Amino acid sequence: MVLVRAARDDDATAIRDIFVRGYRRTYPTLLSSEFIERMLDESYTAERVAKEVAAAPPGWLGYQVAEEDGRIVGAAAGGITAPGAGELFVLYLDPDERGRGLGTLLLDRIAGQLREFGAGEMWVAVLDGNELGIPFYEARGFRKVERRRTHGSTEADDAWSWRFSRLI
Ligand SMILES: CC(C)(COP(=O)(O)OP(=O)(O)OC[C@H]1O[C@@H](n2cnc3c(N)ncnc32)[C@H](O)[C@@H]1OP(=O)(O)O)[C@@H](O)C(=O)NCCC(=O)NCCS
Repeated sequence: MVLVRAARDDDATAIRDIFVRGYRRTYPTLLSSEFIERMLDESYTAERVAKEVAAAPPGWLGYQVAEEDGRIVGAAAGGITAPGAGELFVLYLDPDERGRGLGTLLLDRIAGQLREFGAGEMWVAVLDGNELGIPFYEARGFRKVERRRTHGSTEADDAWSWRFSRLI
């Protein structure tokens, strides 16, 4: 059975592991390995994930996880970014568990949190060309709004993301 819940302190290592495996499986043809490893080292060290497990509302609503038979199989987080608007900051699954509806469970969880904090629209940035992500958001009603340089990237990385939005 799959349980979607707020993360606990002792989930930090499993959450980092999901991000490490997710990044390395999703982006190898889209981003340089240097950029992938830099993002993982900057944003998703076990220490940083551990510090950010807890919510700091409304801007950060805390990591949420999908757990199946005691194992973490996906993680996501979101927060309020402007009055009436929220963002899904991150969503990854164990790469071997895609296509079973787990992403939808986590997306719905974050949308529910954002609604509780007054959001009527939800945003997400997805790397241009990410065919493991873009079709998912389009299937769940998100539409492309604008293309921007990827957060955390430099001009040299030449990485671009689509910002998608949807009413919630
Ligand atoms: C994106 C991701 C979280 C989606 O989770 P998931 O559990 O695989 O998706 P679901 O099984 O809930 O699928 C929901 C819908 O999206 C569609 N979908 C999902 N991934 C798809 C893909 N790569 N291509 C086409 N359709 C896709 C499904 O067909 C389904 O639509 P339907 O219910 O209308 O048939 C997951 O695939 C993942 O971790 N991808 C790699 C990492 C990534 O890109 N994360 C997002 C970064 S912003």
